[in-house]
Amino acid sequence: MTKLAFLGAGNMNTGIIKGLLASHTVSAEMMTLTASTQERSKAKAEVLGVNYAESNEALIQQADVVILGAKPQVLMTLLPTIDTSLWQNKLIISIAAGLTIEQLRQMTLPEAKIVRIMPNMNISLQKSVSGIAYSTNITQTEKTLVTHLFEAIGSTYVLDEKDFVTLTAIAGCSPAFTALYVDGLSRAAVAQGLPLDTSREIVIDAMIGTLLNLKENHLAPWDLINQVCSPGGTTIQGVASLEKDQLTTTLFNAVNATIRRDEELSQ
Ligand SMILES: NC(=O)c1ccc[n+]([C@@H]2O[C@H](COP(=O)([O-])OP(=O)(O)OC[C@H]3O[C@@H](n4cnc5c(N)ncnc54)[C@H](OP(=O)(O)O)[C@@H]3O)[C@@H](O)[C@H]2O)c1
Repeated sequence: MTKLAFLGAGNMNTGIIKGLLASHTVSAEMMTLTASTQERSKAKAEVLGVNYAESNEALIQQADVVILGAKPQVLMTLLPTIDTSLWQNKLIISIAAGLTIEQLRQMTLPEAKIVRIMPNMNISLQKSVSGIAYSTNITQTEKTLVTHLFEAIGSTYVLDEKDFVTLTAIAGCSPAFTALYVDGLSRAAVAQGLPLDTSREIVIDAMIGTLLNLKENHLAPWDLINQVCSPGGTTIQGVASLEKDQLTTTLFNAVNATIRRDEELSQ
């Protein structure tokens, strides 16, 4: 049985642990964590029902797979202090935003087996979208294990590492972009006299239904748009208005802006 070590027990690693437990993918006794202090590790482990280690070194030593889920700046300080021999024969999975496979190797072992994963915050609902990039020395068996683990918390997409920045813009930022859309449409309904709570619920339910329709019926967006826009009807007027106000261009600009910021931060 594979022993998983979680370095960091914040929102993301906790979400992964909960997802693995809820889906019966990994049992609690096979998972161990650390947080910023031993007391914090103990408290987090007790809540989740998993083990904790007394130190990060002890955590790594007893594991087959180490999931790096502390903040990137914490890992950049912490990883170089860990004895490199501890990383021998470990599969290292990093969910840290912006840290490349090459940087992670420099901070662990030059030949380390690294899997870089970019999940999004919907992990807590087991609805994450996770991009995966592998270092070249990962075996097929290890890839199967990684897919098995991360499909327990949502969907997975294997990508070139160079495409992670775009993935982050459309999947990582998506909860914020989508929430903004929900808010705008809900408040437009408030302007027409509906209470905010009601309009928000309506918008969310309508969106969930639409997204399921697109996904489960394998529809291209314009197929669905054409279905809803009856000749001389109301929807075509709304669609024309959105396009006149350059919704598509606005979305292109938002993605470009997030990518520009990502590039600034990684310099
Ligand atoms: N949040 C997102 O939407 C998102 C999306 C994709 C990727 N990520 C990446 O996921 C990682 C975790 O993000 P998060 O939102 O889960 O952060 P978080 O909630 O702040 O959790 C960070 C965890 O790291 C622990 N930690 C700090 N110093 C440590 C140390 N020296 N040794 C062991 N653990 C230590 C913290 O311990 P305490 O609990 O004691 O503070 C905490 O449990 C980040 O690298 C981030 O880039 C986040």
